Amino acid sequence: MARIGWMSRQCGLVASVAAGLVMAMVLSARAEELGPGESIVEPSDAWSKEGYDLLINKAYVPASLNQKLFNNLWRSWEEPLRSQAEKATPEERRKLAFSRYGFTEAPGREGGIPMQYADDGKGGWATNCLVCHGGKVAGKVIPGVPNTHIALQTLVQDIVATKRLLGEEIPPAELGSALIPLGGSNGTTNAIIFGVVLGAMRDKDLNYRPDRPMPKLIHNDHDAPAWWNYKYKTYLYADGFAPRGHRALMQFMMVPSNGPEAFHNAEEDFKKIEQWIASLDAPKYPWPIDEALAARGEKLFNQTCAECHGTYGENAHYPNKNVPLDVVGTDRARWDSLTPAMRAGYKLSWFGRASEEDAIAEPPGYVAQPLYGIWASAPYLHNGSVPTLWHLFHPDKRPVVWQRTENGYDTERVGLEVVELDDIPANVTNPKQKRMYFDTRKFGKSAAGHLFPDELTEEEKTAVIEYLKTL
Ligand code: HEC
Ligand code: HEC
Repeated sequence: MARIGWMSRQCGLVASVAAGLVMAMVLSARAEELGPGESIVEPSDAWSKEGYDLLINKAYVPASLNQKLFNNLWRSWEEPLRSQAEKATPEERRKLAFSRYGFTEAPGREGGIPMQYADDGKGGWATNCLVCHGGKVAGKVIPGVPNTHIALQTLVQDIVATKRLLGEEIPPAELGSALIPLGGSNGTTNAIIFGVVLGAMRDKDLNYRPDRPMPKLIHNDHDAPAWWNYKYKTYLYADGFAPRGHRALMQFMMVPSNGPEAFHNAEEDFKKIEQWIASLDAPKYPWPIDEALAARGEKLFNQTCAECHGTYGENAHYPNKNVPLDVVGTDRARWDSLTPAMRAGYKLSWFGRASEEDAIAEPPGYVAQPLYGIWASAPYLHNGSVPTLWHLFHPDKRPVVWQRTENGYDTERVGLEVVELDDIPANVTNPKQKRMYFDTRKFGKSAAGHLFPDELTEEEKTAVIEYLKTL
């Protein structure tokens, strides 16, 4: 039963995978200037690329949602949101649901099912990769940006509750979904552990073997990486252990109903999906930049940061540097959640066998990410614990607890517009509302470490932040 639970999450949820009504109303002036709704990236070749079309139109996992269920989700909401939804028009209700769960319009399919789902052709909505890898920044949709609004846990709980209200059958797997945490703060998910659990139940030829032993699970929530940096990498993930390749992208398909055949059949599609991901470019910073200040920042960056993060511009060079945990000093739960045996095992699995390179069983620590489009991928660090670049540059000023606004963008501090708090307000007791706060005191959510910017003076920090806007 417990195992079934895991699965269901995977399939149903992970596969199925959403922030708050309160936030819905808090559009910052800056976001409005840009005009909310459409894509920051002009529809271009990228949109017609087959990979994107496959992602939004083809189901690789079973459907976990449908129009009727979606239309009724509001019935499971807590007050006062439920009453607000009850009085709302269908269109307003749709917006409230998009806001609550972290859904967006799909460029090319506006007004239809959210970008985070593919239509299975039978009226079902199947989660796609964009549930974690596609969202919005300052109100603009960007496929490939980490979905920093996704409320996976809340979504799955609401789906189960709504099915109950509608008297629909709830598959045992979905009932078991309380057994594995999906994500403790909106915008992050326990994705690595989904992979660990699902991978444990497959033999090296992808046969589903639920009888296999389950390893110890160290749950940790992760802010997905930006896809436009994929092309610079030879190894994937925060700890950089897995050689890059289209099969690495297919782990998300490990739901029990997908046997080896399903993987073999989807392999050609995933080559196209990988091509599309590798074709993505970082979105350009849409607000004014002080070019002179940025030029000064570039020199300082090259002296202080380039050793790990590489250089940009004409002679761009990305070193793929893996930095020991005690040097970078950021939260270690993600690193601890995979053992050397698991990392080495990945190479022997179907996912790892196609790559020429070996998996790295004991990486020293975390990869220093390429910083292209870094303005758009706030919050920062692998666990998404630091809301703005200014906070990253001022380690002693990082908030203990923070809450973002839905579409506000902080152009002063470069990153999410947030309210900073010492604690979650005492009147916030509903877990669904608590997940709208990022609490850095929780396991796996520490905002400590990466003290490197402290080498710089205050003036120099301002210059380097200005430079980062240009990447
Ligand atoms: C439940 C959320 C979720 C879903 C669904 C998901 N991912 Fe991810 N993905 C993540 C997270 C979180 C990471 C970072 C894990 C880490 O670094 O340890 C990641 C990492 C990656 C990376 C590595 C990027 C890098 O720079 O190292 C790629 C590529 C990727 N995902 C592609 C996909 C594709 C393709 C799909 C769909 C088939 C998918 N993901 C589905 C959350 C998700
Ligand atoms: C010794 C190597 C090293 C140096 C020097 C270094 N960094 Fe980093 N940086 C890292 C590592 C490793 C990470 C990933 C840490 C994590 O996610 O836990 C990181 C993360 C970051 C991030 C967050 C990336 C993201 O996607 O969330 C930014 C921004 C950043 N560094 C900027 C800088 C700047 C600016 C400097 C220079 C002032 C700098 N770094 C110096 C190693 C370094």
